[in-house]
Amino acid sequence: MNILLLGSGGREHAMAWKMSQSHHCDTLLIAPGNAGTAAFGKNMPFGVNDFEAIKKCCIQEKIGMLVVGPEDPLVNGIYDFFQNDACLQHITVVAPSKAAAQLEGSKAFSKKFMQRQGIPTAAYAEFTEGNYELGKKYIAAHSLPVVLKADGLAAGKGVIIAKTTEEALQSFEEMILGKQFGEASRKVVVEAFLTGIEVSVFILTDGIDYQIIGHAKDYKRIGEGDTGLNTGGMGCVSPVPFMDEDFMQKVTERIIEPTVKGLAKENLVYHGFIFFGLMNMDGEPWVIEYNCRMGDPETEVVLPRLQTDLVSLFAAMDNGTLVDTNINFDERSCATIMAVSGGYPGDYEKNKLIKGLETPVSKDSIIFHAGTKLAENGILTNGGRVLAISSYGDTISEAVEKSKILMNQISFEGMNYRRDIGYEFR
Ligand code: AMP
Ligand code: GLY
Repeated sequence: MNILLLGSGGREHAMAWKMSQSHHCDTLLIAPGNAGTAAFGKNMPFGVNDFEAIKKCCIQEKIGMLVVGPEDPLVNGIYDFFQNDACLQHITVVAPSKAAAQLEGSKAFSKKFMQRQGIPTAAYAEFTEGNYELGKKYIAAHSLPVVLKADGLAAGKGVIIAKTTEEALQSFEEMILGKQFGEASRKVVVEAFLTGIEVSVFILTDGIDYQIIGHAKDYKRIGEGDTGLNTGGMGCVSPVPFMDEDFMQKVTERIIEPTVKGLAKENLVYHGFIFFGLMNMDGEPWVIEYNCRMGDPETEVVLPRLQTDLVSLFAAMDNGTLVDTNINFDERSCATIMAVSGGYPGDYEKNKLIKGLETPVSKDSIIFHAGTKLAENGILTNGGRVLAISSYGDTISEAVEKSKILMNQISFEGMNYRRDIGYEFR
């Protein structure tokens, strides 16, 4: 089967690496891809939201399966676009419907869904310009810290955790009246702050059955010791030591099952990944957010540990046999460390030559490209997050150390990475 994968990050390099191992995968195309994905297939010159170019490619290249990496095309309705087109209907699409992708595309939608399904999540209220004054009163009376979220997609920047009421009121004004995130902050969700340790859990579902395909802990802050600004993720570890059978059972019973049953009850068509962003509060799981995709860099540790053929899983999801599949994991730990451009998550420069990529890599490590591109003089940086180095180890410490040793062989001007990934488990 020929497969088209949409995206260009470390997540997509990891997906390309994993899918290319499947005997079901004939030709793999990646749009637009990066310098790393080019080793597993052919990079295509169109973007993830260019549905007409995607359609043309699917027809010309006889694509049998479309796998979607990032959230934008999901929220823009790529699943519906394929279902509504007679030339594309036969293609297996790994994605939720546009209506179901609102679980990620609208914070207010996902909060209401969780409330309807009785899924544990922080108490909240939603406001627009229409009830702005009421919102100010709600915030003024709220305990601190208080969390403000732009309703729509804001490239991971739409969440503000305010430590003072003044800060919260100012952010509220900027979001709603100042249209800080444009249409995305026309509506704002104000919610209670949850304290604990975050963990990401991933399932693949056909909207009726599901399989848990892994979990990970992401290190979101730019600085060591979890300090400084939030990023897309600076590193990950899997498995997470506190994800024992007891906790996993609570996650399954209280969160995963009501979510999947809720999708079916509410006729929300779903054929893809659900990423549960959870908070472990004193041993009890709470949902912070849903995403309709895999995480990045979570994928760079989840897929190396997943031994089951990913393309077979997608096919099983499509033909209703997901429940019969066997999910096997590598028993070892996996850690990934992300190398980022100087200045990230603020402004940064691109087009820096990456040195050391020719370093021999042991079978215990994999270099996944994120923001990279091929040029005549070599591989250049092309984004804030540049490379994720994943390694296996008998312990998290061992895995992290292997990635750090390899990271030391690689350099580009301004390169930065966290040396303390997994610190609390080492
Ligand atoms: P989100 O875009 O919803 O993932 O939020 C980004 C980050 O903000 C999350 O990964 C958490 O670290 C933090 N966050 C969001 N909501 C809450 C909350 N209610 N309590 C504590 N932290 C939160
Ligand atoms: N690493 C967090 C995310 O992918 O949203």
